[in-house]
Amino acid sequence: MIRFIEDPEDRRKIARQILEALTEWFEVTESREQYIRESADRPFWAAFDGEKPIGFICVKQTGNATVELAVMGVLKEYHRGGYGRKLFEAAKEYAVVHGYEFFQVKTVRMGMYEDYDRTNEFYISLGFKELEVIDEVWGAENPCQIYVMNIKTVLNTIASRHSYRGGYIAEPVPRKDLEAIAAAGINAPSGCNKQTTELIIVDDIEVLNDLKALIDPPVAQTAPAMIVVLTKRINAYRDKCYATQDYSAAIENMLLSAVELGYQSCWYEGHITDDDRICDKIASLMEVPDDMDVVCILPVGKAADEVHGPSKKPFSERVSFNRWGSK
Ligand SMILES: Cc1cc2nc3c(=O)[nH]c(=O)nc-3n(C[C@H](O)[C@H](O)[C@H](O)COP(=O)(O)O)c2cc1C
Repeated sequence: MIRFIEDPEDRRKIARQILEALTEWFEVTESREQYIRESADRPFWAAFDGEKPIGFICVKQTGNATVELAVMGVLKEYHRGGYGRKLFEAAKEYAVVHGYEFFQVKTVRMGMYEDYDRTNEFYISLGFKELEVIDEVWGAENPCQIYVMNIKTVLNTIASRHSYRGGYIAEPVPRKDLEAIAAAGINAPSGCNKQTTELIIVDDIEVLNDLKALIDPPVAQTAPAMIVVLTKRINAYRDKCYATQDYSAAIENMLLSAVELGYQSCWYEGHITDDDRICDKIASLMEVPDDMDVVCILPVGKAADEVHGPSKKPFSERVSFNRWGSK
């Protein structure tokens, strides 16, 4: 199990326990102590076997678009158990959610020492690409291989998107970002290209406050912007209406775009289309024409709280190959 560790003292303790057991990689006391010291103030995840810490990873920001895998270690008896990969996935999700574009990591170049060769192979298996080898970092006898990974990918964004229901930072969302998110929404596919989805971007503080006042029980009250999703329930052909599918595709595009731009959101549909019909009150406030329905609101803003998602059923429970139930 992977857990984010908040307490600096816990971080130091876990880092010490793991690194002191990995002398092949961390034999120089001085640099090991530096890793332990610095780990205390950096985003830090640990892997556990029951209550026993068996590995950790911590990251540091090295530029406005880049984080570095500062240090990681997994106890030798747990190598090849998938813990290193899971630790890295947790750190990568954090980096994507916080709007970073690149992940970098440094190690001793392949071909120098057997233990470090395995480290190189591990990083390559995670998807890191060679950027450069520099002798000046640790000296010519330990050439420093810098690996880099582009983390702004569709698959990473999908994996990092969660319904966010926490507080938002009180910081306006630039129009260009709201427009980019809305453009992603209306670029979604629609049945017979009927384009039945329309959007209202709400970033005016007075309108936003009027809108929030309608939401009962209140949600997303600190969001600095919202996108109201409208649908026109017309038939795409014969008696086939695809309006629900159309706006669902648009919403998913917008949720993903929001995450890609470093924002959070949540698909609030059930909440506003229930028996109390908050959606109709919103429609009336926004002067929506009678032939359109308000179906969803999407808050947009930077997260003030931790972002996390619910657990999902295992892949194998929901995906078959070639026929149902065949794994
Ligand atoms: C059609 C639909 C309606 C939803 N309505 C609400 C809602 O009213 N309130 C809410 O908090 N979340 C709502 N959600 C979000 C789901 O609860 C959420 O997607 C689900 O629990 C899975 O979590 P995840 O989005 O983090 O993967 C809705 C999602 C969908 C697809």
